[in-house]
Amino acid sequence: MTSPTTVPSIRLTGGVPIPQFGFGVFGIEPDRTADAVALALDAGYRHIDTAQMYRNEQGVGAGIKKSGVPREEVFVTTKLANDAQGHDNAITALEGSLRRLGTDYVDLYLIHWPLPAKDRYVKTWQAFDEILKAGKARAIGVSNFSPAHLDRLAGETGAVPSVNQIELHPYLQQAELRRYHEEHGIATEAWSPIAQGEVLGDEVVTRIAAAHGRTAAQVVLRWHLALGHIVFPKSSSPERIRENIDVFGFALSDEDMRALGGLDRGRRTGPDPETFDG
Ligand SMILES: NC(=O)c1ccc[n+]([C@@H]2O[C@H](COP(=O)([O-])OP(=O)(O)OC[C@H]3O[C@@H](n4cnc5c(N)ncnc54)[C@H](OP(=O)(O)O)[C@@H]3O)[C@@H](O)[C@H]2O)c1
Repeated sequence: MTSPTTVPSIRLTGGVPIPQFGFGVFGIEPDRTADAVALALDAGYRHIDTAQMYRNEQGVGAGIKKSGVPREEVFVTTKLANDAQGHDNAITALEGSLRRLGTDYVDLYLIHWPLPAKDRYVKTWQAFDEILKAGKARAIGVSNFSPAHLDRLAGETGAVPSVNQIELHPYLQQAELRRYHEEHGIATEAWSPIAQGEVLGDEVVTRIAAAHGRTAAQVVLRWHLALGHIVFPKSSSPERIRENIDVFGFALSDEDMRALGGLDRGRRTGPDPETFDG
């Protein structure tokens, strides 16, 4: 087990600390989620990333209860479903999440996708600001937003998201977007941090893993942490859930970081946010 105290936290704008390492539950069957979450909490995770569209928020809530870890010690993120964008819908949808999660607040509420063709994200963001002020979310942010979408939010509402959760891994390094985040005080969350397993057979990754006596997944996750990204790899396997968080006992050299930095090829595993319409 990894002690939760060895996982560093990052302070979001507004002052809320977020554990830099968490557990993603996309694709975990609703009826298996409670066990997976309880196991992850037992292994030292204190940050769970779910979404309304994953249909497993109820399992997340049940898993936290089952683990015996107090609710306030777990950082819980959920995301607004694409079909619930718009001011009133975003507020009603959060009430549903809170009911399913069995809690009266989330730590972070995200707009899941910008859906530019639908053009509802600015109105949705105004509701998010109200949700923040009402204390139903400790922090608010977005996911899959480009610099143009972020500029528009700030320009039209004055409220800057504390987080942008984006697809990010060695094959898709998103340099321009990460620079934008740094300049605007937005924390970078990396989804599909191991590219759903695609990068694990890369010979650069396996060579570095062998040199450190670590697994390929641990090397890639360590690379993210060194760059300051917040990560939450998903696994349904108890062994891999434990393996993934066991990344705090080694460090990558500058040369390792340079070699991993050279793997960028602009390859997405998921949809392109500019064209994805939900
Ligand atoms: N905001 C968004 O639009 C968005 C989109 C996608 C994902 N996410 C979030 O990001 C989280 C992580 O992304 P993801 O689930 O897409 O991909 P990921 O974490 O990069 O990869 C998960 C895949 O890798 C396998 N895996 C996990 N650990 C492994 C290890 N140590 N060795 C070998 N294989 C391993 C898993 O299989 P097993 O389960 O069999 O171990 C699973 O097939 C999601 O759960 C979700 O919370 C957000």
